[in-house]
Amino acid sequence: MPDLLTDENIMTALGKVKDPEIGRDLVSLGMVKNIEITGPHVALSVELTTPACPLKAKIEDDIVSGLQELGAETVKVDWLSNVKRSFGGPAADLIPGVKNTIAVASGKGGVGKTTVAVNLAVSLARDGARVGLLDADITGPNVPLMMGTMGAHVTGAGGRVIWRGPLIHSAIQQFLRDVDWGELDYLVVDLPPGTGDAALSLSQLIPLTGAVIVTTPQEVSLADARKAIAMFTKVNVRTLGVVENMSGFICPNCGEEHDIFGSGGGAKIARELELDVLGRIPLEPGVRSGGDAGVPITSTQHPDADHSRAGAAMREVARTIAGRISVVAEPYAMAAAG
Ligand SMILES: Nc1ncnc2c1ncn2[C@@H]1O[C@H](COP(=O)(O)OP(=O)(O)OP(=O)(O)O)[C@@H](O)[C@H]1O
Ligand SMILES: [Mg+2]
Repeated sequence: MPDLLTDENIMTALGKVKDPEIGRDLVSLGMVKNIEITGPHVALSVELTTPACPLKAKIEDDIVSGLQELGAETVKVDWLSNVKRSFGGPAADLIPGVKNTIAVASGKGGVGKTTVAVNLAVSLARDGARVGLLDADITGPNVPLMMGTMGAHVTGAGGRVIWRGPLIHSAIQQFLRDVDWGELDYLVVDLPPGTGDAALSLSQLIPLTGAVIVTTPQEVSLADARKAIAMFTKVNVRTLGVVENMSGFICPNCGEEHDIFGSGGGAKIARELELDVLGRIPLEPGVRSGGDAGVPITSTQHPDADHSRAGAAMREVARTIAGRISVVAEPYAMAAAG
């Protein structure tokens, strides 16, 4: 049997394993980087389009079973990643090292936009991505509090400024250009709430891969979420999907889930507008205390890190978003490769 274990046969077998998200096989996508055969043992490296791949386990299972059919006794997969860029155009030159940008938006304030933005950034970073976080809610920034960086100062910042339309415009452009973002796989942008001038002009100014809309399950919040989605459509920014936050309450005493604001509203507008629900995050006291203390629920430093359902849901949402972005990036990568 092990004489079937040749490079060629292995490549043929891997040519039948699909990246479930992109829908093409690992070989034609150039994801197989290295194969070592030692008797009946095979070690290979697979390069993913994101270290936060939601389907890693599925891909690994498919590889292992494909190679077992060739007689491999053990199969060791080493994961590499190469995050691709998903936008172009002149504004992209403002942030040359940034591969993807995700706007976190909502139609209504207070639905957990900053909480989602912060935990999205932390989750992607925990999975091994290089991540930046931009608080574009310059009229009421709260990222510094939730990240525990209150009091940290950026040199060169001016004093108090009254933010009017044109000022916001040039401040953001300057900010994108002058900040040394370095090489980033993902830049998460916390947008101001609503669909007013600030949110509108920011979503035109910042080159965006797409927007994630945060809503709570209540009707009022849903109505506003619809408006936010319409705003992105108007400025040609794709909506990556909807996150339903505060979806059910996890009682800290009994651990049971109670519906407070209801649930499933996110699914309703997603269906209506042909969007995806990226996830549902329960209302959990540790999320708020983590936000207040500057220790996000998804951080390993949060006391509930290992057993928070909201934290687990946030990490799942982050991987789902990373997967969506890989799909968006694919045609850009193909174009760049000629
Ligand atoms: N899933 C959750 N469980 C518990 N508390 C939450 C959850 N999501 C958000 N919160 C809390 O709700 C409050 C509002 O959340 P957050 O500040 O993220 O909303 P926002 O949409 O950014 O608000 P704003 O419009 O003011 O910027 C915060 O105190 C936050 O800690
Ligand atoms: Mg906020």
